[in-house]
Amino acid sequence: MTNPRLQEFRDTIWNFYHDHGRDLPWRHDPTPYQVLISEVMLQQTQVSRVLVKYAEWMRTFSDFETLARASVAEVLTAWQGLGYNRRALWLQRATQMVVNDYSGVLPRDPSVLVMLPGIGPNTAGSIAAFAYQEPTVFIETNIRRVFLHEFFADQESVADAELRPLIEATVDPEHPREWYYALMDYGADLAKRVPNPNRRSKHYNVQGKFEGSVRQIRGEVLRQLLERPRRLGEFEVADERLAAVLAALVKEGFAVQEGDIYRLH
Ligand code: ADE
Repeated sequence: MTNPRLQEFRDTIWNFYHDHGRDLPWRHDPTPYQVLISEVMLQQTQVSRVLVKYAEWMRTFSDFETLARASVAEVLTAWQGLGYNRRALWLQRATQMVVNDYSGVLPRDPSVLVMLPGIGPNTAGSIAAFAYQEPTVFIETNIRRVFLHEFFADQESVADAELRPLIEATVDPEHPREWYYALMDYGADLAKRVPNPNRRSKHYNVQGKFEGSVRQIRGEVLRQLLERPRRLGEFEVADERLAAVLAALVKEGFAVQEGDIYRLH
């Protein structure tokens, strides 16, 4: 079963990795805890930004138990700068589940991993591959870019379902962890070399503008709550969406309202 096109593709990826593979701290013989943290951080945040935060995070919360026991304020403080703060809260809840329901051992089966908060099917697949050398099939932005560029050069609106059989056919069953590192590195390099192939994905969407977004207000409100509890009128946020943002933060468990005072959970 050696399709020459697939074999050529494998050679291209491995050769690239051999010469230009990135040396990233979460790839140094990672523990399942380190894989969980880095994969969630990398879901929506660029490698350069994660690099700044990852080492500090590991010094503050070195294992599942430490993160599970931390206060929400400590977790959000350490997360500052990574964006999409609810990921931090989910991540902590995930570690609490690992400690309480799985005796402190991260599950290796993706169908179990998806039951953890904040872990979708693709992150579950990446965690199983990186933490446990499981030859899973998963898609993230760099991997999508590679397959669109190499196999669907002339096609528009390509669905992930069309990429999956190729990802499955090419994954290295003996070295899935390194294979996926290699694919991601090749995809990150492609982003610098060619007009973004992901525009031809059916699932392509540009991350919304941050300035003026609800996401920006959320970040600002959380920052101010980290300083101290406040009444509605004490937030330095001049935006009519403030009350709705606070209500959402309470509903999601980030903040609590006591009388007219808001504070972090
Ligand atoms: N190395 C391991 N996981 C990664 C990811 N999600 N993105 C980039 N590099 C990685």
